Order: sequence, then C-alpha cells, then structure tokens
Amino acid sequence: MADPDRTPDQKTSYADLKPATVAVTAGRPGHEADQPLNTPVTLASTYVAGGDVEYGRYGNPTWTAFEEALGALEGGRCLSFASGLAGVATILDLVGADATVVVPRHSYNGTVLQLADLEARGRVNARLVDVTDHDALLKACDDAALVWLESPTNPALEVIDLEPVIEAAHEAGAYVVVDNTFATPLLQQPLSLGADLVVHSATKYIAGHSDVLMGAVITASDELYDVLKKRRDLVGNAPGPFEAWLALRGLRTLAVRLDRAQANAGELVTRLGGHPAVEEVRYPGFGAIVAVVLAGGALAADLVTHSTSLWVHSTSLGGVESQLERRRRWKVEPATIPDGLVRLSVGIEDVDDLWADLKGALDQAVAG
Ligand SMILES: Cc1ncc(COP(=O)(O)O)c(C=O)c1O
Repeated sequence: MADPDRTPDQKTSYADLKPATVAVTAGRPGHEADQPLNTPVTLASTYVAGGDVEYGRYGNPTWTAFEEALGALEGGRCLSFASGLAGVATILDLVGADATVVVPRHSYNGTVLQLADLEARGRVNARLVDVTDHDALLKACDDAALVWLESPTNPALEVIDLEPVIEAAHEAGAYVVVDNTFATPLLQQPLSLGADLVVHSATKYIAGHSDVLMGAVITASDELYDVLKKRRDLVGNAPGPFEAWLALRGLRTLAVRLDRAQANAGELVTRLGGHPAVEEVRYPGFGAIVAVVLAGGALAADLVTHSTSLWVHSTSLGGVESQLERRRRWKVEPATIPDGLVRLSVGIEDVDDLWADLKGALDQAVAG
C-alpha cells in the first residue's frame, strides 16, 4: 500500500509542500503508466474475500483517496462520515457516562442539540460557555472530560485563542475537539496546536459546491483513529462513494475558492460598514463568512433575505455561490444570537455584482 505521507510520485513528503499544493496532489493514484490521474468512484458493497477490506462498510478506495487528502492537509489521519453531524455523534458517543463536556454556547446548533439530547438521556453534562470570556472558558475546562471548540463560531463568528485553551484542557486531562469547518485547514490547523481531534462538515468549504453532505474527523493519534474507525465500522455512518468523490473533487480547488471568497468578503465588509440599514458587521478578519446585524431587527432581516436575486436565501454555507440567511428563523437558534442577524456566506462571484444585489436589498430595508 502507498505510504499516505508520500506524494503519488513517491519522492516528496506532503510535509515539504504548501497546503495549496497538498490540496491538489494528495490522494491520487501513483505516477505509473496508464493510471488515471484521479481515483475513480468505486461502487462496491462487498469485495472478494481474503483481503484487508472485505465489506463496503469497512472501507472504500474513494473514501481512502479523500481521507488521504484531507488528512494530509490537517496533519493527521482522517475518517470520512456520512455528514458532519455523523462525525460529531461518533465522537460524542465515546464520552464516558456522566462526563462533563464543555461547548461554546454559540457552536453550530446541531452540535449543541446533540449534547442537549445526550444530557436529557442522562449520558453527559453539557457545560455551555461564552467563549468571549477567555478566563471563564479556561476555568470551565477544570473538570471536563471533553472540551469542544469551534472557531470561528457559527453564526456569532467569535474567535477562540485555541492554544491556551487546548493546554488548559489537557492539564485537566480532557480531550479537545476543534470544529474546523469555518476556517478550513488552509487557515487553521488545530492538530498542530495540540488538539486531539478535528471535525469538519465537509458539506461546506471542503466540498464547496452545495451538492454533497459529508463529514470528516481527523486525528494524529493512532489510538483515537482506531477507536473511531471501530465505531464507524460498527454503526455504518460512512459516506457513499460518490459523495466522497465529489468532496475530493471539490477539495482540489479549495485554495483558489477560498482566496477569492475571502477577498470578496473583505471588500463587502468595508462596503457594508457604511450602509444605514446595518447596525453591526461581524467578521473575524479571515474566512468568507460575515454576519450583519440589521438596525430594523427580524423584520428588516427577513425583507433583505427575501429581496436579493443573486444571493440565494438558503441555509448552509461554504459553496461557490453566495448565500444568506436570518439564523433566528430557526427556533433552535439561541436567543443570544440577535434576531436581526443575517449570516452571509460569501461566494466567488464578482464582488461588484454581489454588492449591487445586496445593497439593493439593504436599501429596501431602510425604506421600510
Ligand atoms: C460548524 C458546523 N459544524 C458541523 C455542521 C454539521 O454538518 P452537516 O450539516 O454536514 O451534518 C455544520 C452544519 O451547518 C456546521 O456549520
């Protein structure tokens, strides 16, 4: 079997390459005559007996290609899952009875809901924390078994200084998970900062085209990898091969998509700041998610999300197409998220077209 740390020509290690090169190179077949350049979709529920895989729930070459690529980018070993939340559930399933799990109160609401469900069934104690209070966050790690971090948070866009929190959690004997969906491995590599596990909704930037649901968990620990692989084998929450193929195809262009989307986001943040409908612009300074809080509250926000033509009113994020959504339209979104907050997932279209469309909708909100 090919060494996953080596590039397909077997001459270079991924560690010597820049992330944009790794995203294009990793997880390809070897440089041998008549090999396809891309790993094909292998549609197989079972394999001829006597090998390492045996059955479709235990492995698939298309998953492996995706896992090699994302693992190389995050600096660990990757397991693919049927969705981001399937990966989250697989990790949370490993937490011991009655253990305390620290989680940002503004983590993706699906993660918070899973913890609330586990707590309601007497499985864990979920400790929701305000991550903008760094000292309180450090203190909350004291008796935790697991510290869940998400940075930036969705959709409040709070940024956590990961390294000291990971250190405090480890001192307390806790494992640390970082949801790296918003930053992507191109902007933040939590394993290199000491995190035990990284989780992705690959549905978002990794796949990047709003056409696939997939998740991934990455770890540098062989022990954790084996435990998680065993759970995936047992439960069967792995992706379909075509999903893995689509996600890998998307990953190839992550660097250029993110560059363009990030440049667009920076420009829109500047322009949004001067608009009278906008009370507050939230942007962590990197990535392509922006949140605007509208002066006219929920009413103005609903008017804006229903008035654009380029920006698509839809949930989710991280695709090439720009999307917007008032997050509190979901009943499960916490009340600490402003009612008039609109999350913008900035895509790769021409920024002037994006601004003209958004400005038109914001102007309507001012006119009332
Ligand atoms: C930050 C974050 N983590 C996890 C998830 C869940 O991923 P999926 O929808 O692929 O299950 C999402 C989905 O929106 C998310 O935004």
